[in-house]
Amino acid sequence: MAAPAGELRFPEGFLFGCATAAHQVEGGTVNDWSRWERQPGRIKDGSTSRVAVDHFARYRDDLRELAAAGQNGHRFSVEWSRVEPREGEFDVAALAHYADVVRLCRELGMEPLVTLHHFTFPLWLADAGGAAAPRAPLRFARFAAACAEAFGAGVRWWITVNEPVVLATVGHLRGEWPPGERSLRRTFATLRGLARMHAAATLALRRVAAAHGREARISVAHHVRGLFPANPASPLDRAVAALPDHLFNRWWLRICRSGRLEPPIGIGQRIAGLAGSLDYVGLNHYCDDVLSFDIARPGELFARQRPRPDRPLSSFGWAIDAEGLRHALHLVARESGGLPIVITENGVADDHDELRPAYIVDHLTAVHRAMADGVDVRGYVHWTAWDNFEWAEGFSQRFGLSSVEPVTLRRCAKPSAAVYAEICRNHAIPAHLRTQG
Ligand code: FCB
Repeated sequence: MAAPAGELRFPEGFLFGCATAAHQVEGGTVNDWSRWERQPGRIKDGSTSRVAVDHFARYRDDLRELAAAGQNGHRFSVEWSRVEPREGEFDVAALAHYADVVRLCRELGMEPLVTLHHFTFPLWLADAGGAAAPRAPLRFARFAAACAEAFGAGVRWWITVNEPVVLATVGHLRGEWPPGERSLRRTFATLRGLARMHAAATLALRRVAAAHGREARISVAHHVRGLFPANPASPLDRAVAALPDHLFNRWWLRICRSGRLEPPIGIGQRIAGLAGSLDYVGLNHYCDDVLSFDIARPGELFARQRPRPDRPLSSFGWAIDAEGLRHALHLVARESGGLPIVITENGVADDHDELRPAYIVDHLTAVHRAMADGVDVRGYVHWTAWDNFEWAEGFSQRFGLSSVEPVTLRRCAKPSAAVYAEICRNHAIPAHLRTQG
């Protein structure tokens, strides 16, 4: 049957969903972040994740709502500190909780995409050095295997680590997240540790899948922020943009192909399980920046970084440009050697839901275009379902399709939720929603 004129149809099996992260929604998590939040001045609005949106208790109703909105996929993360609160002691009830989340997703027709590490560490590992601790890879692999065993055949899509480069940079170079370090040496050590953790978990997930004759598609959620020279004609601007672009956007994808910790972060050492560790690429994309040469900023590699000019800004001050997502998809396709891609996060901080309806339509239109260009995209997972605890921003940045009332914690769908639901239900962007040709 021909698609109605002007409609942009997505292929059968294409996943539409929302992404969440345990610490941001569950409430009651005890990890390096909950400890960090208690230190004065760490969280912009002084809030904590103590209650978050109480998703740990309300997950059944929450998941039913998402499925009722036409979603056929759902990304969530397993909170390691719940599953292994003390080193080597696994909490059977916590594993059963997440197994039930998986089971319910399936029952509701939502393909689960399971993240094993979304920014938080159990305290016992944080205190031993986090990702850079020598035993982090083995411990993470053991945790990954425990999850794979507990969730059974219910999970096909795995994300080992969320945004490894962001985690290393914001926590160890900018000092804005735990452990609050400002050290290039520690940033690089953390990145090497995260690469080892990802490789070890990949081997563990593959081992469990093979033992049971199951399918496991493994990736990280790789954040791409387009980093362009402010003036493409300026050799200096081009020079200061090139290294950050390489380190932030490309390095991780390259090491997952070569299997080596490439310079300048490593010295080319080979890591078991790293080569070919990605079966697909999870792509997180929000916005792009431009960089210009600035002699006064030696500490920032002589670069002044700011949002792309001439673009509207989100409440967070991030530049909104759907073509940036298309560019990011092409970048990932090239750097990964043409692997399938799932957009594992994309969304906008928007206080009054004024930008989000068009943001969703424009970004999905860009995804559709990238697919027409030949990029193999298998799904789009929006960040996020409910306004939640946005790390150092606390509750001050609102990325949700629904708001959450402060006391009752009642979820209230915003107008953008209806737009997204219409797309999900139709498996297409209906012509009347499109704002650009
Ligand atoms: C991503 C994180 C996610 C959320 C969004 C806004 O970098 O993975 O947890 O904070 O940004």
